[in-house]
Amino acid sequence: MTSGAGAHLAPPLLEVQGLAKEFGGLAAVRGVDFAVVPGQIKALIGPNGAGKTTIFNLIAGVLAPTRGRVLFEGRPLPRRPHAVAARGIARTFQLVRLFGEMTVLENVLVGCHRRGGAGWAACAFRTRAAREEEARLRLRAHAVLNLLGLEGRAETPAAALPYGEQRLVEVGRALAMEPKLLLLDEPGAGLNRDEQARLAGLIRTIRDGGTTVLLVVSEDHPLDDRNASFAEEHVLRPAEADAARAEGVREL
Ligand SMILES: Nc1ncnc2c1ncn2[C@@H]1O[C@H](COP(=O)(O)OP(=O)(O)OP(=O)(O)O)[C@@H](O)[C@H]1O
Ligand SMILES: [Mg+2]
Repeated sequence: MTSGAGAHLAPPLLEVQGLAKEFGGLAAVRGVDFAVVPGQIKALIGPNGAGKTTIFNLIAGVLAPTRGRVLFEGRPLPRRPHAVAARGIARTFQLVRLFGEMTVLENVLVGCHRRGGAGWAACAFRTRAAREEEARLRLRAHAVLNLLGLEGRAETPAAALPYGEQRLVEVGRALAMEPKLLLLDEPGAGLNRDEQARLAGLIRTIRDGGTTVLLVVSEDHPLDDRNASFAEEHVLRPAEADAARAEGVREL
């Protein structure tokens, strides 16, 4: 079950080695190992509370691991989210996090600016370089909206979109960073079957465009189009998941 002929011959883009995270006495992630090779679509699968989002936060530099490490292109990832993004990793969140008052285009432009080249001084004085940079970023944002089928929504406030399209805008914002690796946390949650099938097709298109994809798929919210050709699966071992769940039910 590979997602591309010869995919396993390539050295890994991402390597998760013995990764563990404890919160106080709670073992949220216990010794997880997997690798993602360039051009792959990999799905991290497990029940609620199995530690999937925590693994994303460990990769993204939001959390520091208790044990283990994450290598990207053979080198350890920094522990700062901006530095991780600068290495070429972009993510979406399990719950949509958009700037609701801002338009769809502006939300996607936020992703573009993460990689923008002109410094603050150039922007402040509206130099020619800054204006050219802005025009370039807008072009990229429109290209992303086109890919997502959201071109007609460019000037709509994000909060006014139906939920399924808001999820797509999040994907667009991450994509605008032109990442090498895209992390999607339960992208199919809350989508109907048609939207899920469309999203699965979109994820394939993104992969075919050269971006490797690691996504979280919950047992409760499978991506409708999930099949062997779509994604290679890494299922979190039941022992890890059960341990987390057994210890994890704690009222605060
Ligand atoms: N910041 C935190 N502090 C304490 N416990 C946490 C924290 N984040 C997650 N946990 C706990 O760690 C365990 C794994 O949580 P996580 O959100 O990673 O699971 P998940 O697999 O993403 O679940 P879901 O399918 O519900 O999204 C859970 O028991 C959760 O309550
Ligand atoms: Mg989660």
